Amino acid sequence: MSKNEFDGARRNFLGNSVAVASGAALAGAGLAGSAQAQARAIPESATRANPRRKLGKLEVSSLGLGVQNMARTYQTTVPARPEMIEIIRKAYENGVTFFDTAEAYGPHECERILGEAIAPFRNRVVITSKFGWNIDPQTGERRPGLISRPDHVKQAVDGMLKRLHTDRIDLLYQHRVDPAVPIEDVAGAVKDLMAQGKVLHWGLSEMGLQTLRRAHAELPVTAVQSEYSMLWRGPEKEVLPLCQELGIGFVPWSPLGVGFLTGSIDQQTSFADGDFRKTETRFAPETRANNLVLVRLVKRWAERKNTTPARIALAWLLAQKPWIVPIPGTTQMAHMLDNAGAATIAFSATELQALNAELDAITIQGERLPPAVLAFSGVEAPLK
Ligand SMILES: NC(=O)c1ccc[n+]([C@@H]2O[C@H](COP(=O)([O-])OP(=O)(O)OC[C@H]3O[C@@H](n4cnc5c(N)ncnc54)[C@H](OP(=O)(O)O)[C@@H]3O)[C@@H](O)[C@H]2O)c1
Repeated sequence: MSKNEFDGARRNFLGNSVAVASGAALAGAGLAGSAQAQARAIPESATRANPRRKLGKLEVSSLGLGVQNMARTYQTTVPARPEMIEIIRKAYENGVTFFDTAEAYGPHECERILGEAIAPFRNRVVITSKFGWNIDPQTGERRPGLISRPDHVKQAVDGMLKRLHTDRIDLLYQHRVDPAVPIEDVAGAVKDLMAQGKVLHWGLSEMGLQTLRRAHAELPVTAVQSEYSMLWRGPEKEVLPLCQELGIGFVPWSPLGVGFLTGSIDQQTSFADGDFRKTETRFAPETRANNLVLVRLVKRWAERKNTTPARIALAWLLAQKPWIVPIPGTTQMAHMLDNAGAATIAFSATELQALNAELDAITIQGERLPPAVLAFSGVEAPLK
């Protein structure tokens, strides 16, 4: 797959029509004002079930919510917008105060959904967004490649603020490293945005290690967001130790292994055309038979701990480091409630040792992403 083909595939994968997006903007615009009036408080019991964690100096709930699929699911269906808004609001009532989106999700539409949903309690939650894919700031049209030129970053953030109905992005990530722009220049743009109060913290996603060091030296980084789960443990080798060394928080994306760890995928599952998981060789029929050993392990532990596989997968991530905050994605209320309660599951030291030993004995076959997509990960920004 060439980079352009990948961009096309990703466009379909993340895609949502501009027509839907502009309709949503109108709907959202009316809501923000009235919503300010009704501030919703989190019940104390929900906060206890979802205790706070620190990403750098930023305090968030121990479980977040990713809204990437709220404009289009992996199965390629378009979820009902009012239901997505209700899920986000119910997540907040269940102690979730950390919401993850990006301009690429939709594109633009997921930011609009999130902005509308959180309007009644905007000041009590932490919202993230990401720039970096080459998306037309006005139309949301996806173009090939990446763009982190300082002028573009600033324009992108202005668009985010409008769509999210807010005056600041609490945590702004570079979605992927732009191989044409020194990270010092990106940090400079973010620094300017911070001086204007438009951005409070920044982070990087799937970056190279030296780029993270350079970025942090230029402007302290709050969080790294990369794929990490029982299914993909790549960050354990170098990224997590570097985060620990620098005092940077870690936000695992696809913490449920894109759904695999919940037990909802078996040998018979066939992915729809346009479902990104169809392109991942770890889910190809030839590798899946082997990889389902992991799902059986998670299910066994769910029985043992009298809980669900999703909670086992999330609680395992929480148990790795106190500065890890997973952002499971869902478009279903029941799944959100399941995930939001994962912090109630704790492993004793003996249990964790046993679970890790079982995990270490499993070798996952196949790649987490197609080669053309993987090429965007671990990239080092050019020197200034
Ligand atoms: N930085 C990056 O490059 C990057 C890349 C990918 C994702 N992300 C972020 O990470 C978030 C999460 O990642 P993700 O959505 O790719 O993967 P994920 O959270 O590992 O898994 C999501 C899948 O699991 C299903 N699911 C969720 N909870 C479940 C439960 N309790 N029981 C059964 N099935 C459940 C969802 O389906 P239903 O909708 O049916 O529940 C969905 O198909 C995204 O929303 C996005 O914010 C970031």
